[in-house]
Amino acid sequence: MGKKVTVVGAGFYGSTTAQRLAEYDVFETVVLTDIIEGKPAGLALDLNQSRPIEGFETKVVGVTTGAGGEGYEAIEGSDLVVITAGLPRKPGMSRMDLLEVNAKIVRGVAENVAKYAPNAVVIVVSNPLDEMTALAQAATGFPRHRVLGQAGVLDTARFTHFVADELGVPVRSVKTLTLGSHGDTMVPVPSQCTVDGKPLSDVMPAAKIEEIVTRTRNGGAEVVALLKTGSAYYAPSAAAARMARAIAEDSGEVWPVCAWVDGEYGISGVYLGVLAELGATGVRRVVETPLTDSELAALKEAAEAVRSKQSDVAGL
Ligand code: APR
Repeated sequence: MGKKVTVVGAGFYGSTTAQRLAEYDVFETVVLTDIIEGKPAGLALDLNQSRPIEGFETKVVGVTTGAGGEGYEAIEGSDLVVITAGLPRKPGMSRMDLLEVNAKIVRGVAENVAKYAPNAVVIVVSNPLDEMTALAQAATGFPRHRVLGQAGVLDTARFTHFVADELGVPVRSVKTLTLGSHGDTMVPVPSQCTVDGKPLSDVMPAAKIEEIVTRTRNGGAEVVALLKTGSAYYAPSAAAARMARAIAEDSGEVWPVCAWVDGEYGISGVYLGVLAELGATGVRRVVETPLTDSELAALKEAAEAVRSKQSDVAGL
């Protein structure tokens, strides 16, 4: 049997994620769900009609789900579930402003995922990301390695794009890294960044690196301010789909993701942005990377900032 992946939420993030997953042509089925009547079915029909042109065989199935869990039978047997349900930001909002409303949505979705796809690996992308990942794990009751969040792949891609653009080099010659939270305590890690294998600090002045680090930290808000009606989805969906593919293919690739940290970096008991090896079981292991003293201090600060907020979501 081929692999089955479900994307919950057929808004901008969910529909573009479903498209990318289908176009990879490695899944047998992509299920796309939403609470809006007809929308997921319409998008699925449209995506399926692109198959002869794009040349993929994956079938997309669109399903409207009800408040009582109606329709969720369609996700049965999913190897993976990507949760994109929830409101996006408007200009001037922080991701934390979405906490209460998205907590209710993500909890409801997670409970249905636990019921209908009890063996799935869950990738959470709804914001605020670190809190929603912790909440989804609590609400599903899944082992922590089977619930992870998407943030670092996106934040790192933004960082890489800015560096490549500034230097006028191909994105493939740039390697960057961000750890920490998907928010104010994001920890860009310049000491691990390279351009054609050379340290970033050798090819870019410190002030420019700092400017790019700040722009990366505000990367989502910059797009929200321009769009005015929602948040980014092309780069975010590329990130989520890539993680889903690594897990579906049991690839062992190492990506920065929001994962449960249990002793690594001297930090325990919190979902945090770290490097992790991905495979069929979700997070195979957290991979520690060398950090400078100030980067490690910033990572510990990020862990404490999200720890208290993650314990708060248990009551939402
Ligand atoms: N089950 C399924 N879908 C839901 C539910 C639910 N319980 N509640 C809301 N949705 C759907 C909405 O109907 C909408 O179609 O989630 C979709 C969200 O889509 P958009 O408003 O377009 O938002 P999007 O840009 O996709 O962002 C989704 O990702 O990046 C984060 O902050 C962002 O939390 C937001 C999420």
